Amino acid sequence: MDKTSKIYVAGHCGLLGSALLKRLKSEGYLNIVTRSHRYLDLTRQEVVEKFFKNEQPEYVFLCAGLTGGIMANKTYPATFLHTNIAIQDNVFEASLKYNVRYIVFYGSSCAYPRNCPQPIKEEYLLTGEIEQTSEAYAIAKIAGILACRAYNSQYNANRFIALLPNTMFGPNDNFDVNRSHVIPSLIRKFHEAKVKNESIVVLWGSGNPRREFIYSEDVADASVFAVKNAKRLQNTHYNIGSGIDYSIKELAEIISEIVGFKGGIEWDVSKPNGAPKKLLDSTHFLNMGWKPSTPLEGGLKITYECFLNQCCVRGGMI
Ligand SMILES: NC(=O)c1ccc[n+]([C@@H]2O[C@H](COP(=O)([O-])OP(=O)(O)OC[C@H]3O[C@@H](n4cnc5c(N)ncnc54)[C@H](OP(=O)(O)O)[C@@H]3O)[C@@H](O)[C@H]2O)c1
Repeated sequence: MDKTSKIYVAGHCGLLGSALLKRLKSEGYLNIVTRSHRYLDLTRQEVVEKFFKNEQPEYVFLCAGLTGGIMANKTYPATFLHTNIAIQDNVFEASLKYNVRYIVFYGSSCAYPRNCPQPIKEEYLLTGEIEQTSEAYAIAKIAGILACRAYNSQYNANRFIALLPNTMFGPNDNFDVNRSHVIPSLIRKFHEAKVKNESIVVLWGSGNPRREFIYSEDVADASVFAVKNAKRLQNTHYNIGSGIDYSIKELAEIISEIVGFKGGIEWDVSKPNGAPKKLLDSTHFLNMGWKPSTPLEGGLKITYECFLNQCCVRGGMI
């Protein structure tokens, strides 16, 4: 990737896309093209085709997609399935047609079976039943991972790169109550309880499930690393994790401390937990020479500051 290469960051207003944009700009890439959702709906095949024809990007980071926590996934499974598959399919086909050199697609740890051995190795994909609460999203992600493999095989070119980050967090995360993942949701809940001087925050589930979190800027770093080292990649997918997992209880305690909430926490065990544990084995990618650099607490402090300063620009400009 040269400093003048045309690079399309799809979904640049989101959590990962904004981290990538920041990273590419800081490295001096000069020819970055972006379009926000409102100017380019990637589920619409004809406008995607036109955009690629006009812009002819050489590299694509496909950070656009529909994501959400357990509630959103359970309420809108058809929307999660359709939106993600349509975006992937349109962008993959256009990337092939207009000779994109490398495209990076992001799968998810949700794609792995619910009860697979831990830490989760890449080869556990499609070896068992997936978690029911995020089934539709997971199927879309599995389709995307397999599509990368299929395009590479059929066209004899390792141009489609599938990275599977574990649960991401960072500036520009989605703090919307109906759409947020666990970290932005906890930040909002503890912050609002602090402001209202409430004594108790009630959280979903038992607090026992364990999750691995990775800072969005570390995933941006992994993405750039993957493209720079693309010739060394195999035609498969790569786990991208921090290597450390926390129970939701531990996470809640860390966040309540950072936010400065002085009350107690109650667990509503009538609400779903999701998969019991999701820790990725990222050995393959680590062995290539990449490593994450942001500890959970440091990343959470920056994320909370972003939330407080309302510096998130989601849904923003072109
Ligand atoms: N967050 C995680 O923990 C996580 C973990 C593993 C993998 N991933 C994957 O990584 C990628 C990036 O995730 P993220 O957390 O950065 O997501 P995000 O913060 O929700 O950002 C997604 C971006 O995609 C845009 N978008 C959605 N639908 C679109 C459409 N039809 N056309 C054009 N743009 C559209 C969104 O714009 P609007 O907000 O304006 O709709 C938003 O800017 C996704 O593929 C996700 O599945 C995420």
